[in-house]
Formats: sequence, C-alpha cells, structure tokens
Amino acid sequence: MLSEKMEEALNKQLNNELYSAYLYLSMSAYSTYIGLKGFANWFMVQYQEETVHALKFYNYILDQGGRVKLMAIAQPMAEFKSPMDLFEKTLQHEKFITKCINDLVDHAIAEKDHAANIFLQWFVTEQIEEEGNDNEIIAKLKLVGEDGPALLMLDKELASRVFKPPAAASED
Ligand code: FEO
Repeated sequence: MLSEKMEEALNKQLNNELYSAYLYLSMSAYSTYIGLKGFANWFMVQYQEETVHALKFYNYILDQGGRVKLMAIAQPMAEFKSPMDLFEKTLQHEKFITKCINDLVDHAIAEKDHAANIFLQWFVTEQIEEEGNDNEIIAKLKLVGEDGPALLMLDKELASRVFKPPAAASED
C-alpha cells in the first residue's frame, strides 16, 4: 500500500533514475566522439544500470498497487571539458541522487512505511558503491594528469567494465 505522497515521491525518483540513464548515455556518446572508447563503454554500462534502477521503482510502485506516472525527461548536457570533467559531473550527480534516496528514506520512516524503507535500503547501499567508483576513477585521473599514454591505459581499463543484468547482479 502506498500513500499518495509516497507514490508521488517514488514516481519522481523513477524520473530521476531515467534522467541519470539519459545523462550517462550522453556522456557515452561524448566519450566516443573524443576517441575514448573505454570511457564510452563505462558510461554505456552506467546507462544500463540506471535503466535497471528506474525499473526497480517502476515495479515497486506497481507491486504496491500504485500508479506509475511517467514524466518528461530533462535534456542532459552534451558538452564536457575533459575526461576529468565527465567524472566530476558524474560524482556531483550521484551525490544529488544519494540525497534524493536519503530524503525518500526519511519520508518512509516518517510515514512508518516499512515496505518502502526496506525497498530503499538497496539504493542506500548502491549509492555507496556508485560514489566509490566515481571517487576511484577521479583519483586515477588526477594521477594521469596530462599524460596521454596513461589516459589511454585508463581507457583500456574502463573498456573492461561489463553490465550485469538484474538476475546476475542479484547473485553478488
Ligand atoms: Fe541510480 Fe546512479 O544511481
């Protein structure tokens, strides 16, 4: 069972997750354009993960007998200054998503909505991993600096990221 307010908040987060997917798809396209196919792969996997996050909200709302209300997805930025800029903006965005999830948990606790609270815990954990990944890559980019060959080595590393579909992901 969902309150009207919780349904609205979950639909808003569904939209935030779809926007995240859209943003990372844009970053993937930019990365390909500047010749960094490994970066492009990393962002394409991120795009796929965000669609999974969006579908988790979609399914949860429906499972609770609520209405899914799809809203317009904002246009993501398309121009970036550098590989560092891509990941600084990624981290900034993920910090925003972490705040949204934390606010949703606060909302669930205030309403004594235990089911929503349990559902949201998966996202609390996921956000630790997401910010951690971004921090790790930003640290590597700092080491790389202006070194072209080192950037290409990092690009090769990011090319190895593989998308794990939900069934496989849940085995982690
Ligand atoms: Fe769905 Fe990147 O958080």
